[in-house]
Amino acid sequence: MKITASYLKSKYNLEETLNRLAQTDVDAIHLDLMDGTYIPITNFDIKKLPYLFKDINKPLDVHLMLDNPHRYVDTLYEMNTNIIFFHPKRAMDAINLIEDIREHYKKAGIVINPDEDIKDYKEYLDYVDAVLIMSVMPGHGGQKFMRKALINYEFIKMEKRGRFYDIYVDGGINEETITFVSQADGIISGSYICEADDFQQQIDNLRAKVNS
Ligand code: DX5
Ligand code: ZN
Repeated sequence: MKITASYLKSKYNLEETLNRLAQTDVDAIHLDLMDGTYIPITNFDIKKLPYLFKDINKPLDVHLMLDNPHRYVDTLYEMNTNIIFFHPKRAMDAINLIEDIREHYKKAGIVINPDEDIKDYKEYLDYVDAVLIMSVMPGHGGQKFMRKALINYEFIKMEKRGRFYDIYVDGGINEETITFVSQADGIISGSYICEADDFQQQIDNLRAKVNS
């Protein structure tokens, strides 16, 4: 299982957090991006983004928690981006955006919140490279894993037969909750990793739960 780290809630500032993550064997950095349109928080100026992440030696899995995500993809195409996840209801033409992302040799992913029903998004499943099941409401790091997200998780697992997307779960992942989603292709963990002194130890703890 791929272990991805989010930096939203960390013991250290952004630079120090990214430096510490670079020294671990974490598989990718989960880049949460908010511009105040979907969630009333702004955490980056898109113009500074390539500079901020220019030295990062890990692939970037971007989570666009904002409206009209197509506004940002051109910048992301120039970066070390692996996946671009967006909330389909917040896009003007989600299928068109998925195609655009894939034409730029990046993976396209959709995000489903815990209060949404994955069945309402079935039309996208034949097109996407990845599905991100949110197990907290998007916005803040450090929230508690919401068990109701497991309904979407089980459904998306069932629907995967014959399709090729990867399943990711984001929010409230720790040593215990990772076992609820052990068949996911990847998880995102923020505070469990970044609020600790030893990031690598936390990553090892997570891997031990799913690889044994
Ligand atoms: C929630 C973000 C998550 C979050 C994960 O708004 O999308 O990526 O940072 O952090 P933890 O693991 O602390 O829930
Ligand atoms: Zn996220």
